[in-house]
Amino acid sequence: MNAASPALDSQLSAPRSPVIAIDGPSASGKGTVAERVARVLGFHFLDSGALYRLTALAAMKSGVALDDEAGVARLAAALPAGFHDGAIWLANEDVTDAIRAEAVGAGASKVAALPAVRAALLDRQHAYRQAPGLVADGRDMGTVVFPDAQVKVFLTASAEARAERRYKQLIEKGNSASLPDLVADMQARDARDTTRAVAPLKPAPDALLLDTTRMDVESAVQAVLAHFRSRS
Ligand code: C5P
Repeated sequence: MNAASPALDSQLSAPRSPVIAIDGPSASGKGTVAERVARVLGFHFLDSGALYRLTALAAMKSGVALDDEAGVARLAAALPAGFHDGAIWLANEDVTDAIRAEAVGAGASKVAALPAVRAALLDRQHAYRQAPGLVADGRDMGTVVFPDAQVKVFLTASAEARAERRYKQLIEKGNSASLPDLVADMQARDARDTTRAVAPLKPAPDALLLDTTRMDVESAVQAVLAHFRSRS
């Protein structure tokens, strides 16, 4: 997120800043693709998954149960989240690595199923829509948060390909990991994200579908840029 301190885009001013909404399942590469597209265009970048991860971490740290909807929503509304100095902060603590732990990802997926938590994070996400534009990555960017986005992309890859990517990342960082466990985790999280009642993971009807199972990052970035330029 490179919007240092987002002020609310005026709801009344027109035209509103363009949004490129990139949605898809966990480890589909959408975060990397979204960040690169934002850099090429000089747009702001919103990693909405980080907000759910921060909320889960805040709950875990303060002993609030992940299924305590009102309690977690209170934390989400007042989340002391910071995205600056190349790091992600919870109040004064650099939690860049901590929020990437599998346990926090699983926690994020649980709190993300609670409607009051999603509602509590909505305005915060809208605030990132600022000139010259925004690339937003998540699960419901094109369907719920920015339904009027100029460009919507649904980036996906097979669960096996996504588990392998996550496996490589973990091993490179010196963590131990089991590929079968990662495939199972990935499938469980996909199931939770796609079947939840509120803002389920699904492509917007007008989204470009991009299957990256056999595509490298650069090709995916170019495909998104070409789509954006064709619509601008
Ligand atoms: O994208 P990331 O893996 O960091 O997201 C963590 C979790 O947050 C996801 O598994 C999903 O449950 C939730 N999430 C969501 N809506 C978003 C972004 C993330 O429900 N827009």
